[in-house]
Amino acid sequence: MLVAGLMSGTSADGVDVALCELKGAPGNLSAALLHGATFPYDPAMRQRILHCCDPIGSSVDEIAALNVDLAEVFAESALRAIQQAGMSVEQVDLIGSHGQTLWHNVTADGKVSASFQIVEAAVLAECVGVTTISNFRARDIAAGGQGAPLTSYVDWLLLRHPRHWRAVQNIGGMGNVTFLPPLTDDSAEPIAFDTGPGNALLDIAAAELTDGAWTYDRDGQLARQGRVNEEWLDELLSHPYYSRAYPKTTGRETFGTAAALQLLAEASKRGLDGNEIIATLTALTATNIADAYSRFAPASIHEVIIGGGGRHNPVIVGMLRELLAPARILTHEDIGMDSDFKEALVFAVLAYETWHDRPATLPAFTGARKSTVLGQITPGDNYADLLRRTWLG
Ligand SMILES: Nc1ncnc2c1ncn2[C@@H]1O[C@H](COP(=O)(O)OP(=O)(O)O)[C@@H](O)[C@H]1O
Ligand SMILES: [Mg+2]
Repeated sequence: MLVAGLMSGTSADGVDVALCELKGAPGNLSAALLHGATFPYDPAMRQRILHCCDPIGSSVDEIAALNVDLAEVFAESALRAIQQAGMSVEQVDLIGSHGQTLWHNVTADGKVSASFQIVEAAVLAECVGVTTISNFRARDIAAGGQGAPLTSYVDWLLLRHPRHWRAVQNIGGMGNVTFLPPLTDDSAEPIAFDTGPGNALLDIAAAELTDGAWTYDRDGQLARQGRVNEEWLDELLSHPYYSRAYPKTTGRETFGTAAALQLLAEASKRGLDGNEIIATLTALTATNIADAYSRFAPASIHEVIIGGGGRHNPVIVGMLRELLAPARILTHEDIGMDSDFKEALVFAVLAYETWHDRPATLPAFTGARKSTVLGQITPGDNYADLLRRTWLG
């Protein structure tokens, strides 16, 4: 089956499209990336998204409009990726769209009561014409789960090591980890949770400190020029999120624009200069990840597979190498998967599983009472044909 996965993460940097060939079922499921492309948002669109994530400044009319306008951007991105790949829309069987998270509602006791993803699936089905599966998180939340991390189930299906414990670490706007037992161990439970802020605080700090000239600290250039302020770092690491037991997830509500601006004010009171601030926030990302491993890893971790935009930041990666030694630090590429399109591929796999009526979460990952079949199906022009081929054949 040919499935297009569409993803825009908490960084709100652009739409990732993964055109994937999917075969088989869990146990022998294969997911091959045929073509991946990222379509960065223009600055005005990125501003609209970040604005709508802000509960104080945003309004319902703006959110309603963004739900449709952003869906048009998603549809256009899917069409362009299909064209780049030299394919026709008729060859695509299914779209799996994560959409854009505006709000992930974590209550005081760490439970998730709601998670709100926009990007109207009706627009995708109408403009692309392909049957679309969307809104993946809601069902897991209805079953008492966090609705996240969803990537971990695909890590579980595709990325277990034959003999060793592996950690799969994404460093997007937030960080999340999956601890995977070896294939030879069928009694150990895997674990997954959000480790904390990945690039989100850093991106906002970089933008503020460069007067908007940079949207992130490209290749760690600013962090390299500053010294880590250990005292401030220790204080940042005392945030209660880090020691909270899993399952746990977080987002821009806790580690987003408002938090970053407050941290910048604190830092300048302490007399830190711009590069010291970036260096310390960079160390926060690497250290909150390493601390999560020493607190929660259920076994000694042999290798760590990193992915997400943060793996392009050599300062983060260098610190992780040191902090997590003797674990080996690898990228998804080292094990035959493309990091940049991993999350988009995940939503292609989840859509494929939903279309086949198979549950695609584990209670161990999201904390739900049971595994559920995720998402909502919006019929496209190919719906009847797809039903016939899959189910009535
Ligand atoms: N060359 C680079 N140097 C430093 N950071 C980078 C680089 N490339 C990407 N990033 C970081 O990765 C982020 C995007 O990561 P991504 O995995 O797309 O996150 P999300 O899933 O939240 O959208 C950017 O906002 C930036 O912080
Ligand atoms: Mg992104």
